[in-house]
Amino acid sequence: MTSQIWDAELYDTRHAFVAGYGDALIDLLDARPGERVLDAGCGTGDHVAALAGAGADAVGVDASPEMVARAAARFPGIDVSVADLRELPFREEFDAVLSNAVLHWVPEADRAAAGLFAALRPGGRLVAELGGAGNIAAIDSGAGALRAGHGLPEAASPWYFPSIAQYTRVLEDAGFEVRAAWLFDRPTELTAPDGLADWVRMFGAHLLAGVDDPGAFLAELSERLRPVLHRDGSWWAGYRRLRVTAVKPRPQGAVRNGA
Ligand code: BEZ
Repeated sequence: MTSQIWDAELYDTRHAFVAGYGDALIDLLDARPGERVLDAGCGTGDHVAALAGAGADAVGVDASPEMVARAAARFPGIDVSVADLRELPFREEFDAVLSNAVLHWVPEADRAAAGLFAALRPGGRLVAELGGAGNIAAIDSGAGALRAGHGLPEAASPWYFPSIAQYTRVLEDAGFEVRAAWLFDRPTELTAPDGLADWVRMFGAHLLAGVDDPGAFLAELSERLRPVLHRDGSWWAGYRRLRVTAVKPRPQGAVRNGA
């Protein structure tokens, strides 16, 4: 998993779209009051607070102490703590798990899937969204070409953007029954003042590794990508989402209470 250090305040103030777009996942999860729900990769806490506000027994974990500290400060009383998604400590205690825009930071996808599976009770459900195959391709390839032009080595990517087939295989290998999966384009406006450059500084620090003058590099990258990613006065990133719903099967022969 990435060892990226997050500026949680900047993340909140300039990149709030990350949590905002995840609201659809809360609808899909449809948590009932009293259900115990884990937000795996809770960031600065919006979804934990929303779930708790709707009556769920909501718990959030995030690998970043900075994010967890900000979540706790923003929403006093919510249950958030630091945990690595490759080593989740939970055993069959959640009715549902939500994960938004974080699993693409965990290239060890099998370990994350195993931890999510272990955290769920039999019959528990997973709703997750991450960057899918082809996500932010223009930024990635544009920065790669620019690095090559500057004589810099290929940047080691911290990102994992699987196809539906690849991620279904990961979840099934962990034991999940995949119920549905969608891969869809979601062009995303970059609302930070310096648009594309701010996004790369926040999320793509590896693309700047070894760059002598990051400001000049980002200006050059912006000019290259302007014809593709700048329209109607704004920068737009070519986000492509992979959304999945899956269930941890009950043991054969088990029946639900009241069923
Ligand atoms: C994403 O949400 O797809 C994403 C965010 C930051 C870096 C890479 C991908």
